Amino acid sequence: MDGPLIDPHGRAVTYLRVSVTDRCDFRCLYCMAEDMTFLPKKDVLSLEELEVICSTFVERGVTKLRMTGGEPLVRRDVMWLFRQLSRHLVTGALDELTLTTNGSQLERFSDELADIGIRRINVSLDTLEEDKFTEITRWGRLEKVKAGLNAAKRAGIAIKINTVALRGFNDDEFNNLVQWCGDEGFDLTFIEVMPMGEIGEEARLGQYMPLSMVRAKLNESWSLRDIDYSTGGPARYVEVKETGGRVGFITPMTHNFCESCNRVRLTCTGILYMCLGQEDTADLRTAVRAKDNGTALMNTIDDAIGRKPKGHDFIIDRRRRDPSVPRHMSVTGG
Ligand code: GTP
Ligand code: 5AD
Ligand code: SF4
Repeated sequence: MDGPLIDPHGRAVTYLRVSVTDRCDFRCLYCMAEDMTFLPKKDVLSLEELEVICSTFVERGVTKLRMTGGEPLVRRDVMWLFRQLSRHLVTGALDELTLTTNGSQLERFSDELADIGIRRINVSLDTLEEDKFTEITRWGRLEKVKAGLNAAKRAGIAIKINTVALRGFNDDEFNNLVQWCGDEGFDLTFIEVMPMGEIGEEARLGQYMPLSMVRAKLNESWSLRDIDYSTGGPARYVEVKETGGRVGFITPMTHNFCESCNRVRLTCTGILYMCLGQEDTADLRTAVRAKDNGTALMNTIDDAIGRKPKGHDFIIDRRRRDPSVPRHMSVTGG
């Protein structure tokens, strides 16, 4: 068993997203419940086990690794893992080692991240107003994230801001966000809220906003031009003439991008999800713990990729009272 990972629909799997912890120092309203029960530590893979699994995927043709959480930078000694994996950047097997973070710990870690070879990070930020920031994250502080962003910028790391578009919450801030990201030199992507995890479907129904509406709003103030720029992620980008910046749209609800899906997701307990919007999984924890020179791990990965579904069935609908996928976003980190 070797060679690239090709799924039954002919798509090559070249992108692995790894949730290194389900814990987070924020509790974003659309992502977590207030009283989350976190996984017992004993179920969580060691950093060494995560390293083995990631390196096996790299061996099988994965060229992009994204670390997520929860919040990846709250896991103890996580820099050890990043440093180990950065050897694949040196050999050229990996094109990109990156992370999605809430930014709260960037002041502390940016220099080290840059030193390891991380060139680009994605930072979640839904509002530029202090009070609203604390409201949406339940206890985050915007100042701290801004200080983190500055530290990352100083360290020479490129930044993309992720903003979930939420009706009645940040729909009056889209222009500000475009202007601010343009000024700071950050890319910006807007995201449609996805129905994952029990957070109260009434609330989600009220928040949901198709990005066609966001784009229409932006069109009133900016000249937007479609561009071919791609990161290997699902966003479709435009250039904003006035700022020279890039704005992307991630539209899982209104414009399905599953046909070009190139990724799978690993949780911190070693569960592999072949699709964000489906429940089928593979158990890589048992496989990585088998003392058989990696045979079980290879076989389990091959078997899992052989079951990768065609796409998700997300719906946000008045007739539905439960989320399409019961698992919270924090389990897989998006
Ligand atoms: P880059 O393009 O590499 O910058 O990353 P990305 O946009 O793929 O990753 P990021 O972690 O910034 O995720 C942004 C949003 O896109 C999150 O809300 C993810 O859940 C969503 N997303 C990323 N990949 C997928 C996917 O395969 N399916 C769906 N439905 N959503 C995805
Ligand atoms: N729908 C869409 N995006 C979400 N995120 C978290 N929960 C949701 C959701 N229910 C986003 C975060 C982060 C990214 C990894 O996923 O804001 O930027
Ligand atoms: Fe891939 Fe599933 Fe996301 Fe579709 S929903 S793009 S198949 S992970």
